[in-house]
Amino acid sequence: MAPQDAILGWDEDANAEAYDAFTRAHPMYDATSRDLARRANLADATLAVDLCGGAGASARAILDAIPAQARVISVDNAAAMQRVGRRTLTDHRLRRITAPAERAADHLPAGNADAVVCNSAIWKTDTAAVFAAVAHILRPGGRFVFNIGGGFAGVRHPDEQSVRTGPTLNALIRQTAVRDYGYTPPSTASDAPPKLPLETVTEQLGKAGLAVLEAEVTAQHSTMAEKKAWLSIPVFARPEGDFTHAQRMRILDTAYALTTPDAPSVTSWLVVVAQRPETA
Ligand SMILES: C[S@@+](CC[C@H](N)C(=O)[O-])C[C@H]1O[C@@H](n2cnc3c(N)ncnc32)[C@H](O)[C@@H]1O
Repeated sequence: MAPQDAILGWDEDANAEAYDAFTRAHPMYDATSRDLARRANLADATLAVDLCGGAGASARAILDAIPAQARVISVDNAAAMQRVGRRTLTDHRLRRITAPAERAADHLPAGNADAVVCNSAIWKTDTAAVFAAVAHILRPGGRFVFNIGGGFAGVRHPDEQSVRTGPTLNALIRQTAVRDYGYTPPSTASDAPPKLPLETVTEQLGKAGLAVLEAEVTAQHSTMAEKKAWLSIPVFARPEGDFTHAQRMRILDTAYALTTPDAPSVTSWLVVVAQRPETA
């Protein structure tokens, strides 16, 4: 059996606190959220839904982009994330619903949302069910904007290759764990197909009655120092397997010592803008 604190999940207070602190100290989730909010065309919105909204990094970006009298409903199934958000982000225009994204349509009026935004989460959900729920709550002409981590979408921005100066922090973590703990990395076939390529997304959106307007591979530039802070959030800490969080943090410290803090690090994303057609 894995140690008790092996991997804390989204619905755990320590993880939620660490995640929220990270989003405030580092630009990653703010930058990706603002990019999605911009693509959602929120200037005339009256209702925007923040799907898998967590503690509120994306809600902050959406609140900044909507008119003063508009509202945001943030849906997430982790009560711990929303508890932290209630403390750190209060805005009378924001309401939170604790529910799985797949069941969002059970909690929201049909055909009423101008936009649904989902930052850094869609590949963790049952996408066919989520797309159907989104199609139900969007008004005709409403936009659904989300991003998929490059590895999950099977895309890589050219900057990822050109900027790289050495091994990734994840690779150094694996090497350290093998050397210091006798860790055996899982044998994943390097040619394994990506979990959520654009082809699959387009087909599933189509079945739900949504059309792809735009799909773009973007690059997010950060540093090894930001990557280290991100890998310190329990739910993202590596390697997987029978390690305590303290052990993972020791491995991370050793691996990080082999890097240069301000060395550039690039993350690729596939950003998708879909729309419910004006006339069904
Ligand atoms: C990386 S966080 C992103 C949170 C927020 N969008 C942001 O940009 O900070 C991923 C979130 O997705 C939520 N999540 C994952 N699967 C979900 C599902 N099926 N339904 C609702 N929320 C889900 C998690 O609870 C977590 O809060």
